[in-house]
Amino acid sequence: MNVIKIIVGSTRPQRFGVQVGKWVAGVAQEFAASSGGSVKFEVVDLAEVNLPLLDEPFPAGMNKYQNDHTRKWSATVAGADGFVVITPEYNHSTSAALKNALDYVFYEWNYKPVGFVSYGSGAGGSRAVEHLRGIVGELKMYDLRESVMIPNYWGQLGGDGAFTPLDEQTAGLKAMLEQLAYWTDAMKPAREKLAAK
Ligand SMILES: Cc1cc2nc3c(=O)[nH]c(=O)nc-3n(C[C@H](O)[C@H](O)[C@H](O)COP(=O)(O)O)c2cc1C
Repeated sequence: MNVIKIIVGSTRPQRFGVQVGKWVAGVAQEFAASSGGSVKFEVVDLAEVNLPLLDEPFPAGMNKYQNDHTRKWSATVAGADGFVVITPEYNHSTSAALKNALDYVFYEWNYKPVGFVSYGSGAGGSRAVEHLRGIVGELKMYDLRESVMIPNYWGQLGGDGAFTPLDEQTAGLKAMLEQLAYWTDAMKPAREKLAAK
């Protein structure tokens, strides 16, 4: 069975990212149930992972981790075959917490597909995603064209602050998950071959 991890990429108190994570996880569980047990999804919340700012003396590509938090994060990332990355947009880029988490390890990301869900004001987090595409390319990941954007999400919050997705956003998410599950499965044998080199 393939494991796809859904990374919640913001860590602030009262962050909107948690609501996006719940929505994505709900749609993903439905998708998994309809796909006959070939894939499962798990949420990874970077606020819970709680990594310090990168404090390893060697770059991740040297594979000489010194810290327990790095080994733990390494196991979390290594345990996934693909990823949904949920990103906010901060000053036209992604969050420092997400960039830090990406920088921490290297081989564990390699040759794995990734789909993005982003949110923010008018651009829906798309500028963060464009930066992330360059970063994940360096990590030898395969970024999907399909992505989901939530512009001006505050217009989709009820009086209680709860987020209601638009039908088109849910349809876009399903289309992305379908591609992600397909490529996660297709890339697995290639990944094992490439990683052995
Ligand atoms: C430091 C900071 C910078 C921001 N810069 C942008 C921005 O450049 N573009 C944008 O669309 N929204 C921007 N916003 C608004 C965020 O998209 C919005 O606050 C969102 O809720 C942040 O995600 P979070 O709640 O999960 O932390 C910024 C917010 C913060 C805190």
